[in-house]
Amino acid sequence: MSIERSAVIGGGLMGAGIAEVLAKAGQDVIVSEVGEEAVAAGRARIGKSLDKAVAKGKLSAEDRDAALGRLRFTTDIGDLADRQLVIEAASENEDVKKAIFADLDRVVTDAHAILASNTSSMPIIRFAQATSRPERVLGVHFFNPAPVQPLVEIVSSVLTDPDVSRTMTGFVAEVLGKTPIQAGDRPGFIVNALLIPYLCSAMRMLESGFATKEDIDAGMVGGCAHPMGPIALADLVGLDTCLFAAESMYAETGDPAVKPPVLLSRMVDAGLLGVKSGRGFYEY
Ligand code: 3HC
Repeated sequence: MSIERSAVIGGGLMGAGIAEVLAKAGQDVIVSEVGEEAVAAGRARIGKSLDKAVAKGKLSAEDRDAALGRLRFTTDIGDLADRQLVIEAASENEDVKKAIFADLDRVVTDAHAILASNTSSMPIIRFAQATSRPERVLGVHFFNPAPVQPLVEIVSSVLTDPDVSRTMTGFVAEVLGKTPIQAGDRPGFIVNALLIPYLCSAMRMLESGFATKEDIDAGMVGGCAHPMGPIALADLVGLDTCLFAAESMYAETGDPAVKPPVLLSRMVDAGLLGVKSGRGFYEY
């Protein structure tokens, strides 16, 4: 099956990045959002990132314009009827995501279409069960910033058709030029099963007064060659996303390593979400 028409649900941090990756790879892309304000924000996010790619010498101005020409936005999910691949990248709320999958099941007409979720840690099977075609549903998890990070986790539920996983794996590698890895439908898959406990530990270290955020970050950058430290990384991921991931992993596993730190909850309550809101642990 050759995938040429794709869509992304949500033009936020991850959705915009994924839509950009798809458009640069030659896909005809529709981004579905909830309202005109969100459409404008998503469009601006993609435009800014493509401009940065041009400024960094990663993309020609012609290729940027061509990618923009392949992108459309809609506030009507019914416009996704003819899509062969839809990647859901809405906020990390299980009920919202289930409702989106039920809508997609209703509107996407191609029985061979693949319905994917970019969830960071929620069970794929629950979204699959919101549809009448659970074998066509899987996780396709990108990393922030999606245009830069090479990895994509392919997450098969117990009901995903192995042909669907194979098709997505081939698409990610050959069409998107990214590196696919296979993960089971378990809390946090591979990367967040390791990353979320690490970020929570760093926040607990900060919360306890044991070290400053600057020293925690400098420790992991200078001591372990990470491109950024865990406090800055949490700000980049989005503190709301970190909290939702920790909450969903904690609910399923009861592992104290992913028990959301109180500090993280308070930051989110305060609307301090990190880079995307202009202030998290640091100011942007
Ligand atoms: N388009 C294309 N390429 C771009 C780009 C863009 N918009 N922006 C930057 N780049 C390229 C640059 O050209 C550069 O390439 P080079 O190394 O070949 O020269 C490279 O990306 C790095 O760019 P910069 O040096 O300019 O640094 P930035 O400040 O722009 O970005 C960073 C830095 C890429 C964010 C880097 O600090 C990094 O990789 N940090 C770690 C991010 C990370 O760990 N992400 C995973 C989060 S976990 C997640 O998302 C999962 C979720 O479920 C929680």
